[in-house]
Amino acid sequence: MPQFTRTLVTSALPYANGPVHLGHLAGVYLPADIYVRYKRLKGENIIHIGGSDEHGVPITITAEKEGISPRDVVDRYHQMNLDAFSKCGISFDYYGRTTSAVHHNTAQEFFLEIEGKGIFRQKNEKLFFDRKANRFLSDRYVTGTCPICNSPEANGDQCEQCGTHLSPLELINPKSKLSDATPELRDTMHWYFPLGRFQEQLEAYVHTHEEDWRSNVVNYTNTWLKQGLNDRAITRDLSWGITVPLESVEAFGKVLYVWFDAVLGYISFTREWAAQRGERDLWKSYWQDPQCRLVHFIGKDNVVFHTLMFPAILMAWNQGRTSELYNLADNVPASEFMNFEGRKFSKSRNYAVYLGEFLEKFPADTLRYSIAMNYPENKDTDFSWQDFQNRTNGELADTLGNFIKRSVDFTNARFDGVVPCNSTTEEWNALGIEWQDTLEQLDRAYEEFHFREATSLGMDIARAANRFLTVSEPWKMIKVDHDAAARTMAISLNLCHALSIALFPVIPETCNRIYAMLGFDGHIEDRIVHGKSLFTEILQPALKEGHKIRKNAEILFTKIEEGDIAPELAKIAALLAEAEKREAGVVQSRMEFKPAISFDDFLKVDLRVAKVLSAEPVKKAAKLLKLQLQVGSVTKQVLAGIAKHYTPEEMIGKNVVIVANLAERSIRDEVSEGMILAVEGDDGKLFVIEPSGDKINGKLIQ
Ligand code: 2FM
Ligand code: ZN
Repeated sequence: MPQFTRTLVTSALPYANGPVHLGHLAGVYLPADIYVRYKRLKGENIIHIGGSDEHGVPITITAEKEGISPRDVVDRYHQMNLDAFSKCGISFDYYGRTTSAVHHNTAQEFFLEIEGKGIFRQKNEKLFFDRKANRFLSDRYVTGTCPICNSPEANGDQCEQCGTHLSPLELINPKSKLSDATPELRDTMHWYFPLGRFQEQLEAYVHTHEEDWRSNVVNYTNTWLKQGLNDRAITRDLSWGITVPLESVEAFGKVLYVWFDAVLGYISFTREWAAQRGERDLWKSYWQDPQCRLVHFIGKDNVVFHTLMFPAILMAWNQGRTSELYNLADNVPASEFMNFEGRKFSKSRNYAVYLGEFLEKFPADTLRYSIAMNYPENKDTDFSWQDFQNRTNGELADTLGNFIKRSVDFTNARFDGVVPCNSTTEEWNALGIEWQDTLEQLDRAYEEFHFREATSLGMDIARAANRFLTVSEPWKMIKVDHDAAARTMAISLNLCHALSIALFPVIPETCNRIYAMLGFDGHIEDRIVHGKSLFTEILQPALKEGHKIRKNAEILFTKIEEGDIAPELAKIAALLAEAEKREAGVVQSRMEFKPAISFDDFLKVDLRVAKVLSAEPVKKAAKLLKLQLQVGSVTKQVLAGIAKHYTPEEMIGKNVVIVANLAERSIRDEVSEGMILAVEGDDGKLFVIEPSGDKINGKLIQ
């Protein structure tokens, strides 16, 4: 294990194509911020780099829809997201933009270095071209019918209805989103990154981290490695993006693929951060010094870009070099998803709560706390307004806030706002809190990215403190034993201080307010000293006799009333109703009768009963099962989009109905010689049609 002296944390760069929502906050930005704040309090050298991903086709689509330029789109959302993060207390050291000149230079420098080593491959390929718009169409600009579920609105890269990743060439009846015209296939040339060339190196890299990476990260990555890595196109025919820095004719009109450029943004922004500090080369000690630990916070949908693509790009840069070698990530804590009221956040379906809007109504720390307690570390979690209200009222207001206020108020009322005595280490240890254990657990939890556990531990201290004050009853005690009441208050104030440290990474603004109420000037951050951990301060009482606290206590958390969340609940009900209507609309439109066909036409469709002989998953197509079917005397292979609904074992032996004379199609390098019939239930579950009867195999259905 290398000895790290510094840490560089990166947070996935959100597309500047819309406002960030609570799902993004939960998966990436809050965990990164908690980690960074924790490390800073430990006196460690750490920087947090983030920024906007400002290229990519969705941005040009938004611009075209709104009749504005892509630049207008990214300017708008970059500022909006930056403001929302800052209001939420996400403490980036630098928040850059991939449209910056420094970033364009960095990305082009990488391209040229790798091109110069002859690592890229150039491939001719056929791409859809819209003659009306006079443009090549990248995946997202093509729409059509999904070959798997028949949804009429699948995108060229993915079908939103069934989730299958597609290529535009797989779509049935492809259409250009620009003009609605049927696009034609034209030849073009693109640069490809030969990921497969780095397969062994990547396997070795991932292998050395298998122990300390999360299992979801290891599993996603290994699934790719097991399938064998293929060449990945890293250029596109587009006008918005970083131009391919070559003079050749082939390079004309081509830009770098947004993912090639985005991951390099982390480097560009560290360069910009260093330049801004007036220490131009400082970025190198974060990227090129093996003593720096690199950690990428991302959502699960970005795993392979950070565990395979980016490392491979860096390996390609490092290849054959003896200096300026880049570090590879030491850890990639990818989160699962946090859902919202039982459903996936979806910007495209407008089912989301946006961070900026949320913070106009509720304070950042109430959100940070609730989300930390619902951190989707190993499994998807759910954010609900009810849970948010319960945690704010029951945990933050009634437990933490109440304890702090009672401690400060009573000290002011009866001890003239002064810590009345020193409290001893014995008293501290007799509180029922194992401080040494708690410190170790807190340390481990923050260090190993278990942020829910760390937050719970902090709240456990608050519960114990609240109980201590309630049971000690200083307000009664003071009448009979002034010294005992004084000891209780000295301990309580020290507990307030311990809480302000333990919970600082999660609710920093609140902890600074507690700190101020305890009579300190400035912020907790002001006390950070390199090489010294502030966390150890919880090991013994820190406030000494005579220390003056502030004269008045404030209410840390305002309770959330039913009336406060009622409009939010109404909004969700409306969003859900809209979503249901839309889904029903899809079902409806599929149920709408298609144009009439003649009886003869119907007779052309050869529907047969078939028996499933074998079934197996299909590589790189999580939705598909490959079925071998017995149809009378012949066997047929059919690819069916039912893998999410049936295991291969469940399918074997079933009688199914197939369209036996459907023209052969190739999906994911496999041939499909028919289609099996299935019906979709209300909840999206597919049921294959299972005919029953004696000796029906191979028989025509009529
Ligand atoms: O998924 C996304 O929102 C991407 N914009 C994330 C990019 S992360 C990194 F590569 F910059
Ligand atoms: Zn589909």
